[in-house]
Amino acid sequence: MSELSIIILAAGKGTRMRSARPKVLHRLAHKPLLGHVLDCAAALRPTGLRVVYGHGGEQVPAAFPGAEVTWVEQAERLGTGHAVAQALPGIPDGHRVLVLYGDVPLLSAASLQGLLETPAEGLGLLTVTLDDPGGYGRVVRDDAGRILRIVEEKDADPSIRALREINTGILVAPAGRLRAWVETLDNHNAQGEYYLTDIVAKAVAENLPLASRQPERAWEVLGVNDQRQLAELERHYQRQRAEELMAEGVALRDPARLDVRGEVSAGREVEIDINVILEGRVKLGDGVKIGPNCILREVDIAENTEILANSLIEEAVIGANCRVGPFARLRPATVLANHAHVGNFVEIKKSSIGPGSKINHLSYIGDTEMGADVNIGAGTITCNYDGAHKHKTIIGDDVFVGSDTQLVAPVRVGDGATLGAGSTLTRDAPANALTLSRVAQKTVTGWKRPRKK
Ligand code: UD1
Ligand code: CA
Repeated sequence: MSELSIIILAAGKGTRMRSARPKVLHRLAHKPLLGHVLDCAAALRPTGLRVVYGHGGEQVPAAFPGAEVTWVEQAERLGTGHAVAQALPGIPDGHRVLVLYGDVPLLSAASLQGLLETPAEGLGLLTVTLDDPGGYGRVVRDDAGRILRIVEEKDADPSIRALREINTGILVAPAGRLRAWVETLDNHNAQGEYYLTDIVAKAVAENLPLASRQPERAWEVLGVNDQRQLAELERHYQRQRAEELMAEGVALRDPARLDVRGEVSAGREVEIDINVILEGRVKLGDGVKIGPNCILREVDIAENTEILANSLIEEAVIGANCRVGPFARLRPATVLANHAHVGNFVEIKKSSIGPGSKINHLSYIGDTEMGADVNIGAGTITCNYDGAHKHKTIIGDDVFVGSDTQLVAPVRVGDGATLGAGSTLTRDAPANALTLSRVAQKTVTGWKRPRKK
């Protein structure tokens, strides 16, 4: 097998996106279009990977700082043949070259593996048959079905426009031949461009083996030219991710109302209700249930934990058999041990909550280390910020915090301590004792409430 070089064409301006951002940096499932193509290319383990970007498009290489890519600037956008010619210098003649498009983000490595079965000395084209082939280059074949050439729509007569097999633009060719062909391209056509597609007739003239492949699913080769197409591709992508999860046994209440914008791994008996967004790396253990309208970003949830409706959870690690929500907000660096409960309108940030501890209502817990079996009453606030610095609150095991308590950090609460409701704790509370700070209750007898005259 000869070695593989991949060239990704990404010099398009994307005028129809009506955006200052280069087209290939628009996002699908939170990842730039070109990022999807780079990932697909990497899965094919090429020897070399080159990306052709457009003049003034320096944001494109800058968006992929760590990528093992040779960036090639195409100073003038003179056509797909010209773009490939810019990237060929330095690729050894003995390589095979696979040409991909930076604005065709859903192509699967599996479809490309099929195309790469083309004999190494031959030219392989990825084609697809469409009901509406409008706008695409048409694949022209002879009576025996052999490919003769590709004709761009703008250069086509009505009989060719009637053909429904189109060129996706994705192709594989031997580097040496490709170099010779692109050097002899001309731009005598309706668009005055150097068409890469003209190499097909040249390969036919040289009697090179020609092969064509169709992708596994027709939508894989759809390109993005405007916002409408981008949204349409997002739906194809999301449907695909939902199908994958269901194939693994995840119960989705509605596959059309889940959005995956990262990598999800799920155990057995996982259930996900509607309108859920999963971002970044999300790990769901066996028996995890996610309620409706939840957003989970970079979250690891252990088995049998339930996330109730309308919870927002970011960069958190949640143990087994926990209950979170409804309306909970877990912010980065929150760690819940097994059997912890976090209820409605509770915000937790950068805190570890021990096993069996409960914060069930209307509280803010920040920069806190909490032990096991703690009960935090409604309306408890850790005052972790003095206007300049953040301070820690340390709460031992088996502590009971009465409702409407403020813990002014830095402060410690010993094991087994009880804090009376309504207290403002400004000094440490010792273990196994009741601590409270509260004005003594008094009653004014015979007091008259003012009345309207
Ligand atoms: C091209 C094909 C057409 C095919 C269609 C599939 C040619 C001549 N035509 O047409 O047969 O049906 O794709 O979508 O190849 N690009 C550059 N530099 C350039 C020109 C293009 O990098 O100078 C990149 C674009 O950013 C894009 C890709 O090449 O990613 C295709 O260019 P585009 O202008 O969309 O080609 P089409 O005219 O649609
Ligand atoms: Ca196009």
